[in-house]
Amino acid sequence: MRTPSPWLARAATDRLRPTPFTAFDVGEAVAAYDRLVAAFEERARVQYAVKARPDRALLAALARRGGALDVASPGEVQQALDAGCSPEDIACSNVFADAQELAFARQKGVTVFTADSIAMVERLATVCPEALVFVRIAHEDTAGAAQPLAGRFGCSEDEAVRLALLAARSGLRPVGLSWHVGSQQHDPTQWERAISRAARITRRIRRHNITVTHLNLGGGLPGTYRRNVPPVETYARTILTAVDRHFPHPHQPRLVLEPGRAVVADAGITVTSVKAVVERLCGTYVVLDAGLWNAGLLDNLGGIEYRVTFPDHPEGVATGPVTLCGPTCDSLDTFTTDGVYQAPRALAPGDRAVIWSTGAYCSTSTLVGFNGYPPVPQHVHVPPGEEAKELPDQRQAH
Ligand SMILES: Cc1ncc(COP(=O)(O)O)c(C=O)c1O
Repeated sequence: MRTPSPWLARAATDRLRPTPFTAFDVGEAVAAYDRLVAAFEERARVQYAVKARPDRALLAALARRGGALDVASPGEVQQALDAGCSPEDIACSNVFADAQELAFARQKGVTVFTADSIAMVERLATVCPEALVFVRIAHEDTAGAAQPLAGRFGCSEDEAVRLALLAARSGLRPVGLSWHVGSQQHDPTQWERAISRAARITRRIRRHNITVTHLNLGGGLPGTYRRNVPPVETYARTILTAVDRHFPHPHQPRLVLEPGRAVVADAGITVTSVKAVVERLCGTYVVLDAGLWNAGLLDNLGGIEYRVTFPDHPEGVATGPVTLCGPTCDSLDTFTTDGVYQAPRALAPGDRAVIWSTGAYCSTSTLVGFNGYPPVPQHVHVPPGEEAKELPDQRQAH
């Protein structure tokens, strides 16, 4: 198990703070960002995907470190600007952005966009004629990913060549290729496949005197959940080796990494109390006061299995298989049911449970108080020197 920061470790055992709550340590996320930059030997610019967690203090800290931000909507453009990110460090990767959304981004000074269709290239040419364009290639191999992004995003190799040519003919600047190998990708070699595909496309585009200067390696780097993953250094080594093999000098592209989960997942925890332990026909159910809806743990529906510990019971006590669920009267509010969770046999109502690595994709999906359970409070720790200039999000309690 990964060692949490001292602040997170204290939050995990803080008996005075009423449950449920989520604790997020901006310092821990910044440390994960720094580790990524170092693992990639400073050869890749890290463009944090704001959707994973948009806390203003976090965005401000990353911007101060020279990072860029990946956004998808006018709301995220504004969040990035409010955090002090300059427009030239904001990239809009939403391949379905409509003309109004593009116009907003352009008006705010954003110049980097992504396209994977003729319609998007045409929209960009009309609304953002000076745009720098990344062409997003499909990554259809779903192996290794908890949440594949296959199908909905990206174009074929042939289409990528056509789009780059169309973009150039339309006055846009087709500067790069991008892809996403699937979120929580367990297999670093998936990037090798994507990089070799990108190299083929780059060679074909070069024949038309268009130079691909950037590769956006996408997101997909993992957080620490129940299933073990290689360290980020292993991913970096595999990826950089593949880039060197497929893009020999003098054609080395500039690299962009677009992680969300890997920056913030391990910087958050959700602390919850047991409401009931009940025997049902199919086994033991443990009902927690935080679940998929009120704590935004919807990632659970997408193949993420959180690690859960029970701090009131010493390690090594007798345990048995349980099904964990949240407090709502809804069948979806149930954690993975295939017998993966064990809980102490003596677990009782009032005992605490800690759900680890809930920093990613949880804080913004809790806005609706489904079944009358309000979103869990978010306690955010901002280390000295990492504060945002203005007041943080009103929903965050310190
Ligand atoms: C375009 C793009 N970039 C980056 C990310 C971040 O992915 P991850 O959280 O898996 O690193 C996503 C996530 O959906 C995405 O759509």
